[in-house]
Amino acid sequence: MAIPESVKKRVERLRKEINYHNYLYYVLDQPEISDEDYDALMRELKGLEERYPELVTPDSPTQRVGAPPSERFEELPHRVPMLSLDDAFSEGEVLEFDQRIKRLLGLNTDIEYTVEPKLDGLAVELTYENGVFVRGSTRGDGYVGEDITKNLRTIRQIPLRLLERDIPVPEVLDVRGEVFMNKDAFEALNKEREEEGLAPFANPRNAAAGSIRQLDPSITARRPLDCFFYGVGVVEGAEFKTQWEILCTFKEWGLKVNPLSKKVRGIRNTVRYFRDLAKRRSELPYEIDGMVIKVNDLGLQGALGQRARSPRWAIAYKFEAAQAVTRIREIELSVGRTGVITPIAVMDPVSIGGVTVSRATLHNEDEVRRKDIRVGDWVIIRRAGDVIPEVVRPLTQRRTGQELAFTMPENCPVCHTRLIKEKDEAVWRCPNPGCFPRLVKKISHFASKGAMDIEGLGGKTAEQLVQAALVHDISAIYSIKVPDLVSLEGFGEKSAQNLVDAIERSKNAPFPRLIYALGIKHVGEVTARLLAQHFKGIEGLMNATQEELEAIYGIGPEVAKGIVSWFKDEDNLKTIEGLKRAGVNMGVAEETKAQEEDLPLKGKVFVFTGSLPGITRGKAKEMVLERGGEVASTVGKRVDYCVVGERPGSKFEKAKRLGVRILSKEEFIRLLGGQAR
Ligand code: IVH
Repeated sequence: MAIPESVKKRVERLRKEINYHNYLYYVLDQPEISDEDYDALMRELKGLEERYPELVTPDSPTQRVGAPPSERFEELPHRVPMLSLDDAFSEGEVLEFDQRIKRLLGLNTDIEYTVEPKLDGLAVELTYENGVFVRGSTRGDGYVGEDITKNLRTIRQIPLRLLERDIPVPEVLDVRGEVFMNKDAFEALNKEREEEGLAPFANPRNAAAGSIRQLDPSITARRPLDCFFYGVGVVEGAEFKTQWEILCTFKEWGLKVNPLSKKVRGIRNTVRYFRDLAKRRSELPYEIDGMVIKVNDLGLQGALGQRARSPRWAIAYKFEAAQAVTRIREIELSVGRTGVITPIAVMDPVSIGGVTVSRATLHNEDEVRRKDIRVGDWVIIRRAGDVIPEVVRPLTQRRTGQELAFTMPENCPVCHTRLIKEKDEAVWRCPNPGCFPRLVKKISHFASKGAMDIEGLGGKTAEQLVQAALVHDISAIYSIKVPDLVSLEGFGEKSAQNLVDAIERSKNAPFPRLIYALGIKHVGEVTARLLAQHFKGIEGLMNATQEELEAIYGIGPEVAKGIVSWFKDEDNLKTIEGLKRAGVNMGVAEETKAQEEDLPLKGKVFVFTGSLPGITRGKAKEMVLERGGEVASTVGKRVDYCVVGERPGSKFEKAKRLGVRILSKEEFIRLLGGQAR
């Protein structure tokens, strides 16, 4: 069937428009149209592409997710090696760098530099051919990287097609940049992981690296990654004279450039800017570990050349990381909700950057072995920014021979069941669902706010219930009677009755919350809602096949696998039976609807601007949606509230102009009923 010319034109037009709005939204953070209007454009394009599949091209904005997982990463060589940078840790070293450059160039005038924050993420290279993103790779050893094209495609800040406005796009363009994760996104991700019984990431850098190196792109797609671009490799069909011109042209083409990059003349001004940056560091939404100084003129860069692994024309001026030395007393093992065993270093308390630290996660057995950390070792520990402390390395020269190497025990340290390790996993697990800490964490997760929201059933009470043998499975909480509780320490008649009432009320919790409460691997609050929407009731979900689950937008193979295997487990099926028998809401479509009618924020439209410390934008949106409200991306007449965080954008001004009700973070939380976590 021939495709009508008008359809081809419309598809072309829609892609241009969507690409432009993606750029405004993801790169500039200044959307011009509402989410609804954007969705309408996307829907129209998807509709046309479904009717005329021949029209689908890899650079179409509909083609970000959905690539199948790979067995392994292919190698991808860098046509121009990706060098690293020499470090400078003091002003003296930076002045020397400037002196050396002047000497080599035979100049005694001030050199012009560009300065760029040094993002602490993962270096990547992307190739655009005639403006279309064709492949991308990690840095690897600088010469050969890994092909992560499918994963990079899922990052919305990365254009699938360059914008062509005043500056034509070259035939071939290799761009280099840093993929990273914002601090609040990192914290939210870790929290979610802990709730799901997965080991948390040590820092945003590891989280970004772990997310981009996923064989399953649908997992990468769900990780909030971002990217700044700062350099080029092969370029055919364009000429640049300076580093600054590269950055400006990138912006023109829709490639995100760090807004704190700057052109400065002379080393004095450069050092001054470094001090500024150091002061602002903690306020930035992402981690930086220093500032990269580059000679601006590419001609001069060429004249200076490079050493084996690093250029002579650039240097990384690093901030001091807060470090301390202390001694490991013990390596404790903690059992998580899903049975994951995590080694934790227990150390002599020491102050780093004003915070006393005595424990640090060692993540897993491989990590302990890789760093060769032993009990009794003197170690360097580091706290970068506001991130959890990390054991950097042991001071091997201080070893006495009395240190004990760490070995993972064969049996669970608590219930003594034999530990298991699944293929492709770095962690050991205790497979006994009744293992004390597992059961306690399962119950307190089940009862937590985003889950069944049972007031008065926190970790401590859960511990008492398991200890008193009142609960051997989550469903057993529904059989607890007042007299059972009264005999427990800290309970009186009244508090016992309150807890029994709260447990009883939770039977009516909305179905999505129940799904989340079950604690299925990879199933956080958002996924639970997707599942509830799709299946409406527990039967459908229990019987879903891997394929059926994967067909749901937003659910990838890993998640699907986790769900299928959860519902295969005998003990879990018993839990479901028990919950059913107790009369817990297992999702009936009508009921959910009825509940939607009387949600507190029904009909209210919110707009957000600026960052809300402690709450990610995604979480804030969710909180509004959960309560029946809507979230718009631009301020207009329909908008009821504008929530203003730190460093608000132009939306704030517009909201004031239109007389929209302005809310601070605190007012927002109060309006929602104080449920922010
Ligand atoms: S330029 C030859 N610019 O730092 C130039 N690197 O040690 C080499 N990085 O692997 C890189 N921000 O991961 C450059 N604005 C920036 C950077 C930056 C972060 C990282 C990058 C690179 C490492 C060099």
